[in-house]
Amino acid sequence: MTNAPEIVLGITGSIGAYKTGDLVRQLKEAGYAVSCVMTQRATRFLAPLTLQALSERRVHTDLFETDAPQIIHTALADHARLVIVAPATANIIGKFANGLADDLLSCILLATRAKILFAPAMNVHMWQHPTVQRNVTTLKRLGVRFAGPDVGKLACGYEAIGHLAEIDEIVRAAKQLVPVVGGPPSGSGTPPAAARSKPSSTSKPSSRKSKKRR
Ligand SMILES: Cc1cc2nc3c(=O)[nH]c(=O)nc-3n(C[C@H](O)[C@H](O)[C@H](O)COP(=O)(O)O)c2cc1C
Repeated sequence: MTNAPEIVLGITGSIGAYKTGDLVRQLKEAGYAVSCVMTQRATRFLAPLTLQALSERRVHTDLFETDAPQIIHTALADHARLVIVAPATANIIGKFANGLADDLLSCILLATRAKILFAPAMNVHMWQHPTVQRNVTTLKRLGVRFAGPDVGKLACGYEAIGHLAEIDEIVRAAKQLVPVVGGPPSGSGTPPAAARSKPSSTSKPSSRKSKKRR
């Protein structure tokens, strides 16, 4: 058994999605167990298989997974110590700020009582739009922590605010919110039952023991 804190990492439909492979890798090296949840739009930017290989877990993309023995969004929400959304689109920020739940990630965000960290990434004018800023303020008032966005070269060509925070910064924020006690584990952590629902060749037999909830 490991003490690896469980993170649900939500990935949404931004160019910055390609960086999340590195985020998964660094979070695991820091001692976390990571379950990835991708929106349908995120899968247009990055193949789930990439994150499955790096997280050593099944990647969830569908609220209505028919082969899962549990209700997938509540199982992941209950098991998480921390939910990170990186990159976070204007869309997911707006949905969460307004209590909308129309896909797996937005359902998890409403169902969880874990700490939540958003790392937004978007065009500068989207970020500065009053509706987006209003939604960000709403989420901050609710206790959602933000990393970035930073000033940088954006995909749209602007050198401006809207750039995904550096992966180091996101990992640092995760460590502040949910420290890893005792340092990185030797194994990759125990998947929640929901993540185990479809055994894959990447599962490690030694990591299949039951794990206490937080
Ligand atoms: C090439 C491309 C890049 C995009 N990058 C971003 C982005 O960085 N941030 C953002 O908020 N939306 C971006 N979008 C728009 C989102 O993909 C769109 O709002 C989508 O509905 C988000 O869905 P999701 O939040 O469910 O993933 C981009 C769209 C395209 C086609």
